[in-house]
Amino acid sequence: MKKAILGCVIGLGLFTAYNAFTGVQNSSGKTGYTGSPGETTCSSCHSGTGTGNVNVTGNFITPGNFYVNGQTYNMSVVITDPTASRYGFGLEALDTNNMSIGTLTAGSGSQVQNAPNGRQNIIHTNGGSTSSNGTFNFTWTAPPTYAGRVKFYVAANAANGNGSDSGDKIYTDTLSVFTSGPTQMANNILPQIGISPNPVIQGNTARIQLQSGAYALEVLDLSGKVMIRAKAADHAGVYELPTQLLTTGIYYIRLEQEGKVSSSRIWVR
Ligand code: HEC
Repeated sequence: MKKAILGCVIGLGLFTAYNAFTGVQNSSGKTGYTGSPGETTCSSCHSGTGTGNVNVTGNFITPGNFYVNGQTYNMSVVITDPTASRYGFGLEALDTNNMSIGTLTAGSGSQVQNAPNGRQNIIHTNGGSTSSNGTFNFTWTAPPTYAGRVKFYVAANAANGNGSDSGDKIYTDTLSVFTSGPTQMANNILPQIGISPNPVIQGNTARIQLQSGAYALEVLDLSGKVMIRAKAADHAGVYELPTQLLTTGIYYIRLEQEGKVSSSRIWVR
């Protein structure tokens, strides 16, 4: 009997903990609802329309919104709505292949998490911001190698603070930024290299197409750390990239051949 009661108490405890957990899950932000290609927005659950807006900005080089490889930029998401009392957001930085690019770093009231689709998201923390102006500050570090246009997608919630998903207003915005020397880079880049399969299952081999001649190849993680290095004086055909030593995630492949450089991405999953 004692055991049965104890079981009940533990069961109840677990049930409450589970509820509290899922409750926190929702209001502490959702990844994968930024309105980027293949995603919906927060309005999949939150209803309501309003006359406010959201703006994503960064201290990129103007005019033209350029970034320099490896540089860190201060970014802000500002949600404006006269009726809101609580705010939240979700943002992604994607390249022209709609894959995450660069590194997002959380600031006050935000956190970085990967969405089920593999994209890196920055989202608000538990409960969202209750500040009156709905501003979130964080940083984005540009990729270590050439990557072309980067587009930021944000979906934001100007919420009424009633602790549910009703009566909240969802706004979206985007921002495109570009590498600092597009023409100069264009002269030095190889055509995009062929990688297959991509994504590759961790432990399997990815095949990288090489042109003839000497090559140097590096696989870098998102922070720019070199994970794999390979080179040969003369080589044509296919380089077989082992992925056993890589954890799942997105990596850059930097290939140098005959003085030209190409940068591609591979997703190990
Ligand atoms: C799958 C459904 C779902 C999606 C998608 C979703 N939310 Fe929510 N959200 C909820 C629910 C349900 C609540 C109610 C509180 C809870 O359960 O934690 C909530 C609560 C909130 C709150 C507090 C609202 C208030 O008035 O107190 C904020 C802020 C919030 N969500 C922001 C977001 C943002 C920003 C996004 C999009 C990036 C988003 N949510 C996407 C389900 C969702």
